[in-house]
Amino acid sequence: MMSSSLTSVAYLGATILFILSLGGLSNPETSRRGNLYGMIGMTIAVLATVFGPRVTMDGLPWIIGAMVVGGSIGLFAARKVQMTQMPELVALMHSLVGLAACLVGFANYIDPIAALNLSSAEKAIHEIEIYVGILIGAVTFAGSLIAFGKLSGKIGGKPLLLPGRHFLNLIGLLVVIAFGYQFLHAETIDAGMFALTVMTVIALLFGIHMVMAIGGADMPVVVSMLNSYSGWAAAATGFMLNNDLLIVTGALVGSSGAILSYIMCRAMNRNFISVIAGGFGTGGGSPAKAGGEAQPAGEVVAISAAETAELLRDAKNVIIVPGYGMAVAQAQHAVNEITQVLREKGVNVRFGIHPVAGRMPGHMNVLLAEAKVPYDIVMEMDEINADFPDTDVSIVIGANDIVNPAAQEDPTSPIAGMPVLEVWKAKTSIVMKRSMASGYAGIENPLFYKENNRMLFGDAKKMLDEVLVALKA
Ligand code: TAP
Repeated sequence: MMSSSLTSVAYLGATILFILSLGGLSNPETSRRGNLYGMIGMTIAVLATVFGPRVTMDGLPWIIGAMVVGGSIGLFAARKVQMTQMPELVALMHSLVGLAACLVGFANYIDPIAALNLSSAEKAIHEIEIYVGILIGAVTFAGSLIAFGKLSGKIGGKPLLLPGRHFLNLIGLLVVIAFGYQFLHAETIDAGMFALTVMTVIALLFGIHMVMAIGGADMPVVVSMLNSYSGWAAAATGFMLNNDLLIVTGALVGSSGAILSYIMCRAMNRNFISVIAGGFGTGGGSPAKAGGEAQPAGEVVAISAAETAELLRDAKNVIIVPGYGMAVAQAQHAVNEITQVLREKGVNVRFGIHPVAGRMPGHMNVLLAEAKVPYDIVMEMDEINADFPDTDVSIVIGANDIVNPAAQEDPTSPIAGMPVLEVWKAKTSIVMKRSMASGYAGIENPLFYKENNRMLFGDAKKMLDEVLVALKA
């Protein structure tokens, strides 16, 4: 068993490693190192907690048993999950953080030892920690489960807009405050439990309502927002348990999630404050299904793999824009091979990455890194958008919403104002996808009808393999 001073030193070390980890993860070149720091930090944190002064010998078998069960489930899920299902898994994990905060809160409240030897002021603070912790935990738990349902397609992407929903939320908030007052003044544990339970039910309903009201196109912001909420739930648990490391770690996750939410909001031209309040994706975000009058004018022109190879061979500048379809088709290795062949022929090939491409932050960067595409040719949207007019061929691989010109041209579009990669400004744009189907936001894409656009229909991996064969021929 470790002494409390040794545990403190271990916690300090773990904190530093977590900060280094976050720093590393901000850049693709250092991200592996960042992950390693995080893993070492977490190992130290878990060992220092389990063998720390606050765990008795009797408790140890329980903890180790729970870790074996939890670890096995985690290992199994992580091995089994497809890359494209990653956002769902992450949403599910956030829900577990919320659930843990709730359970710890209830356990802490009914634990007679936790409140022992506390002055009345300390007891009040402890109870506020419990109340707020369970509140954040329940919102995170329910909201993340709904996000999981929406991301996995088990729940429709359409926003559920209850009449007077802001009013309902306000009433909920007032009831939560009123019961909070009752909770703090409860004479008995039973009376306190009643207030706590009512608040938990309201918080669960609020979490469900908040995410249900958000349109499918706004899900990237929701994912990062729930990430932030889960951090604050963990920090609240830290306060309840008097565990400094949990407070710091929770705050790191909470604030980095908030920064990520801000970046996502900017990428989608959404207002951060209204996202935090959960009331967004209502007006513009509703999937006002295009079609009818909004039907894009023009003709769709298909192209073959051989013709695509021809265009690429003659090009000097090529920009590749990957999207969700590249992840589905697992076409990243084929993309890398084509990139290599073209670069050997002296073609300047670069990648344009939209901040919400795919289904999770950094989705495309992870795939391209896995396929060993050199980092220095992978550009962010802002770095490359101005270069499309000087580009001979832009190739869109399984992307749709992130290259939709309607965001700029049609003020009534659900994605109006969202910055997009302007692939249509290249001399020729080629879109690789299986059909004319819409993307995640469920809207028509006028790009497919533009005069200089060509469609290469088929599975991205299969088509890229054909292009590669033609290029090498
Ligand atoms: P999408 O707009 O979803 O378009 C992907 C396209 O890939 C589809 O239109 C589909 O067309 C095509 N596709 C699917 N499987 C394919 C395959 N095997 N081979 C070739 N093509 C295939 O994706 P995007 O452009 O990457 O945009 C991302 C969207 O997801 C945005 O709306 C964003 O808001 C949302 N979103 C993002 C996140 C984050 S954090 N990145 C999280 C949640 C939601 P076919 O069916 O015709 O093949």
